Amino acid sequence: MSIILKTPDDIEKMRLACRLAAEVLDYIAPFVKPGVATEKLDRLCHDYMVDVQGGIPATLNYAPPGYEPYPKSTCISVNHQICHGIPGEKPLRNGDIVNIDVTVIKNGFHGDTSRMFLVGDVSIQARRLCDVTFECLWKGILRVRPGACLGDIGHAIQRYAESAGFSVVREFCGHGIGARFHEDPQVVHYGQPGTGIVLRPNMIFTIEPMINAGKASIRALANGWTVVTKDHSLSAQWEHTVLVTETGHEVLTVSDGMRPPPDWAE
Ligand code: MF3
Ligand code: CO
Ligand code: CO
Repeated sequence: MSIILKTPDDIEKMRLACRLAAEVLDYIAPFVKPGVATEKLDRLCHDYMVDVQGGIPATLNYAPPGYEPYPKSTCISVNHQICHGIPGEKPLRNGDIVNIDVTVIKNGFHGDTSRMFLVGDVSIQARRLCDVTFECLWKGILRVRPGACLGDIGHAIQRYAESAGFSVVREFCGHGIGARFHEDPQVVHYGQPGTGIVLRPNMIFTIEPMINAGKASIRALANGWTVVTKDHSLSAQWEHTVLVTETGHEVLTVSDGMRPPPDWAE
């Protein structure tokens, strides 16, 4: 395992790529409505990244070892889909909860962020899952500082999720990010404080908890990519890309339209 520490020049480029990724989500938000096909949302995001931002959608044709090339420019995961939902012709319906995950490459660097969107009137339980998952992300972010370790992040997320009665997906995790989409380290969203690698300034990684309303077990769909809850319970995810600074952290995937941190994170 080798973690690439970023130079000041890398960090400046990461700030831009990450802000662009967040701005794609700002842009798409008003289109996330009942009746829209997720492939329409994907096409709009693709065109925005390419034509407006002069960027490259990192997921399009992305093919990690053992996977077929990913066919779309975003991942859009609806309801019991945990992650890697492939945009398609099926329209969103009133009451759906939707994760849109965007990764933009700009000047050779990757910015990666995702948010939950609520379609029309969403049940109180589904809304609570989305809110608790957002708070899990911030429980993790608040642990990020030099000298802390990855287990501190995972533990904070797991404790918060499980005390709300939810479960943490184990098979997918956050990741180092920079000139490559997925770098070391793996940032798991569970664990014990004081374990795992120690954080150092100029590391950049994502935190992206996937939290299930029911059990943690997953199942893979036949398309080779999409992962769903085995018990068909709802699943939510939020993701930021985060820099370890000399004194703490800087969230890089920021934009005017982002959801502000919880009050207790100020
Ligand atoms: N953006 C996802 C992440 O947060 C990865 C998607 S890979 C894809 O790591 F190929 F499915 F798009
Ligand atoms: Co990611
Ligand atoms: Co992502």
